Amino acid sequence: MTAKIISGTEVARQVRERIAREVVQLREETGVTPGLVTILVGANPASVSYVTGKQRTAKELGFYSVQDDEPEDISEEKLIKLVKKYNDDPAIHGILVQLPLPKHISETNVLYAIDPDKDVDGLHPMNLGRLMIGEARFYPCTPFGIRELLAMAGVETKGAEVVVVGRSNLVGKPISMMLVQKEANANATVTMCHTATRDLAAHTRKADILIVAAGKANAITADMVKEGAVVIDVGVNRIGVTPEGKAKLCGDVDFETVKEKASVITPVPGGVGPMTITMLMQNTLKAAQLAAKGK
Ligand SMILES: NC(=O)c1ccc[n+]([C@@H]2O[C@H](COP(=O)([O-])OP(=O)(O)OC[C@H]3O[C@@H](n4cnc5c(N)ncnc54)[C@H](OP(=O)(O)O)[C@@H]3O)[C@@H](O)[C@H]2O)c1
Repeated sequence: MTAKIISGTEVARQVRERIAREVVQLREETGVTPGLVTILVGANPASVSYVTGKQRTAKELGFYSVQDDEPEDISEEKLIKLVKKYNDDPAIHGILVQLPLPKHISETNVLYAIDPDKDVDGLHPMNLGRLMIGEARFYPCTPFGIRELLAMAGVETKGAEVVVVGRSNLVGKPISMMLVQKEANANATVTMCHTATRDLAAHTRKADILIVAAGKANAITADMVKEGAVVIDVGVNRIGVTPEGKAKLCGDVDFETVKEKASVITPVPGGVGPMTITMLMQNTLKAAQLAAKGK
């Protein structure tokens, strides 16, 4: 079997078209334009590139967008004050603090300072807690993108054996919690694996849907995958430089061999990645829609 390759780029394009239409509709009906601020501390090249992509997309979709660059040595107190300024700014509906932050700043303290109603990255404990009890307001963007990819590819999750490799707060735990909920596009039986899992392959081979967020190139090889499985590769590993001088990327799954066994697979790049930024825009639009309704 050769897998159908899901293009996250194409699915993201469709979702963005819908968001752009809804932005126009919201403005016409309420006068509200979704506003997003991205706060970047320092100039880590990967973070600069992520923030640039988020800003570009926000502008393309008709958002009001603000890029706030802060020096590497900003104090935690000053950064929290800045976050609170945006909490009080009615033109801003979404606040994204680009992670990781420099070592002298507690990411937890900064994330806790964001108004949960403007936490469009979905990482505030209030939003993660709501997700757990099935009352999510904002899903974290990468897991949200994974769920959209599965839904738009027509993958049945109800009753499916889902195996997630990775238990980070950013990806592994939230996607597991989302897919176990008793609701549409979820309702699966979920197993979470990590570095203390005794026999990883014994678990991954049972998966109807295998989601890999380990951050290790080739962590999943064809012998670890069931014939006909759906494979979502979240990993982004830098494995060199292209002739054009760009970072050469690969996922956590040995794509060439696994695609001969899976029924559906996502590539890296061009799979989960484009969906992450798109779902940030979806969350910001939702924050603006709720604000316009006074909720
Ligand atoms: N495309 C996107 O938009 C996007 C967004 C976010 C992340 N990512 C990528 O996704 C990957 C994961 O990100 P993350 O933030 O979740 O990473 P992370 O915080 O480093 O967590 C990795 C998780 O994988 C587990 N793990 C690592 N190696 C393993 C192995 N050989 N077998 C079983 N479990 C293993 C770790 O287990 P322990 O807990 O036991 O250490 C940990 O729970 C990274 O490559 C990251 O760049 C992509």
